[in-house]
Amino acid sequence: MEKNNIEKEINFFNGKTNLQEDNKIILVTGGAGFIGSNFIRHLINKYPNFKVINFDKLTYSGNLNNLTTLEDNNNYVFVKGNVSDPKDVKTTFEQFNPDFVVHFAAESHVDKSIINPNIFLETNVLGTQIMLNYSREYKVQKFVQISTDEVYGSIQENCNVGEEGSLAPNNPYAASKASADLLLRVAYQTYGQRVNIVRACNNFGPYQFPEKFIPIIITNALQNKEIPVYGNGINVREWIHVEDHCRAIDTIMQDGKSGEIYNVGTGNKWRNIDLVEHILQKLDLKNDLISYVLDRQGHDIRYSVDSSKIRKQLNWEPQIDFETGLEQVISWYKNHLDWIEEINSGEYAAYFKEIYKPRMMDTD
Ligand SMILES: NC(=O)c1ccc[n+]([C@@H]2O[C@H](COP(=O)([O-])OP(=O)(O)OC[C@H]3O[C@@H](n4cnc5c(N)ncnc54)[C@H](O)[C@@H]3O)[C@@H](O)[C@H]2O)c1
Repeated sequence: MEKNNIEKEINFFNGKTNLQEDNKIILVTGGAGFIGSNFIRHLINKYPNFKVINFDKLTYSGNLNNLTTLEDNNNYVFVKGNVSDPKDVKTTFEQFNPDFVVHFAAESHVDKSIINPNIFLETNVLGTQIMLNYSREYKVQKFVQISTDEVYGSIQENCNVGEEGSLAPNNPYAASKASADLLLRVAYQTYGQRVNIVRACNNFGPYQFPEKFIPIIITNALQNKEIPVYGNGINVREWIHVEDHCRAIDTIMQDGKSGEIYNVGTGNKWRNIDLVEHILQKLDLKNDLISYVLDRQGHDIRYSVDSSKIRKQLNWEPQIDFETGLEQVISWYKNHLDWIEEINSGEYAAYFKEIYKPRMMDTD
């Protein structure tokens, strides 16, 4: 973003943070979801003086079982609330007066957005604006928006997109996230709010909801169920372990220059079909569980970010090697069959059927 707010920035915030020593209150939205719950654990483990407020509506993908280990921790508070309801948000700001806001809460599933885009606008766009409004009113020191590499759309072979790349979303989810990013730009340019935008590639790790690609592969394979693969499976995705993403968010929250966007990537890219076969091989299973399904509408072929900015400017590097991370995640799902069972027996089972059954192709 342009830097015409330097003066406001200096007035608003006095130098670099030193969070390790401070008593800070961090408001995390969407903390009952996959990345949010991992981020809360990261904060609580790393900063014993912090108070972390988890503000979450508990939609189908929010799961407090992701945070049972923190239930008795005095530094952790859960508040059930909706980011698109100003009353809920205001009450929470009044009660806790947070120093930092890290905004994960979102409708996050692309297929769902194609079926019902409206809720994506309500949560991801209006909800972000409401969070920004109260962050301004309560003089939050920094608002960190958890965006995604999907806002750039499909990236050509042999290219990586940098932070200056155009916004070219191709599905309602990505469009809602790109719209929210523009609202962050406005918060910085018009109101001088201190903000950062984080655009990471695909995450994997423990507590990821079974609707997402790697959990579907592992959990279906463990239950001997078909593994749906879109189209011909040649779409390419870049993968990061969620803990590396959480460390990147923490680094950006502390040291990111206000108004800046940071891509977060690993360079570890896989064609979907190759990754399915790789995981099946790790589980000693055959490829006959793979079931090709009709392709997603507007399915982006390739994502690939240039993450040199965060590496050079903020000294962040991913630490978890993909194979090690994958093995850890496979064991995690093997050891959390109850967690999977609880999800699969509820609302999610009907949802999975609705999304994937009409796409099943006859592969004979
Ligand atoms: N998963 C990925 O690979 C990935 C990659 C890059 C960026 N992101 C972004 O990271 C964020 C978190 O993704 P995730 O995979 O953890 O998603 P998730 O679906 O697991 O979690 C979303 C959380 O937001 C909560 N939520 C939804 N609507 C809400 C509302 N109106 N008010 C309050 N809470 C609400 C849900 O209950 C849930 O706990 C999203 O903003 C997503 O766009 C995800």
